[in-house]
Amino acid sequence: MKRKNKYTDRTQSKKNGKALTIALIISGTIMTSLVIWLGMHQWDLNKSFSAITGSNQTKEQQEPVSENHSDPETDSTPSSEVSDSAGVEAPTDEVDSEQTDAGGYIEGQQLPEEPTYINGVLIANKKYPLPSTFAPGENQEAREAFNKMAAEAKLVGFHLTAFSTYRSFEYQTTLYERYVERDGKEAADRYSARPGYSEHQTGLAFDIGEVNYEKHWASSSFAETEAGKWVGANAHRYGFILRYPLGKEEITGYMYESWHFRYVGETIANEIYQNNSTLEEYLGI
Ligand code: DAL
Ligand code: ZN
Repeated sequence: MKRKNKYTDRTQSKKNGKALTIALIISGTIMTSLVIWLGMHQWDLNKSFSAITGSNQTKEQQEPVSENHSDPETDSTPSSEVSDSAGVEAPTDEVDSEQTDAGGYIEGQQLPEEPTYINGVLIANKKYPLPSTFAPGENQEAREAFNKMAAEAKLVGFHLTAFSTYRSFEYQTTLYERYVERDGKEAADRYSARPGYSEHQTGLAFDIGEVNYEKHWASSSFAETEAGKWVGANAHRYGFILRYPLGKEEITGYMYESWHFRYVGETIANEIYQNNSTLEEYLGI
């Protein structure tokens, strides 16, 4: 019995040893596989689990990112930024706020409380109106510059005059309404500013012509006269620019006006003259 028991015990302990070894091998294999599987999925338990179960939650989170990365334009852009910039709301709003009517004016725009100065330059155009109460009168510095130019023009035989300079808001209203009645709104908007939008209301605009040659006043023919040619070639030396040059209507908002000059001071006038540009281009507006 004892021997039998001894034999049985030995057999039993052998069996136990084998079972333990098998258990250790199995658990070792499982642990190793687990470590390799985790490593294959960036040590992310969620991803590793999803890969086994085929869960859709992680896929949905990943797909937009991989789509973004396949797009060269949005490559390496964080997905949150992509969704913001891919929206159409911001650009649409921007376009809406700049919607212009047939005359080139911003729809629904109200006249401001204050005039606009850009880099110290007072601007009045179809995008930057003046307050209706803005009434500075003719600018003295501009008048002095004009007088100096006229004096020098006289020396070479031209008797210049400024036939229209400062205009009040009320006077511009009368003028504009008269032109609309005569030529229609579409035509008037190309050569006459709506009330609040005229540069003449700044006191810095001078419509220049030659005394005794009224037929060329406010006419493109002024540019063909000797006096008009002289003004066109010299006004910048006195601080004036041709404000609405030929071929720049898309930029200035008005058709060619060979007689309308704007005082901006000699430095700016020289630069605009040399570059054949406009006040809008100079100011970058
Ligand atoms: N003729 C210019 C554009 C004005 O009316 O102010
Ligand atoms: Zn004018």
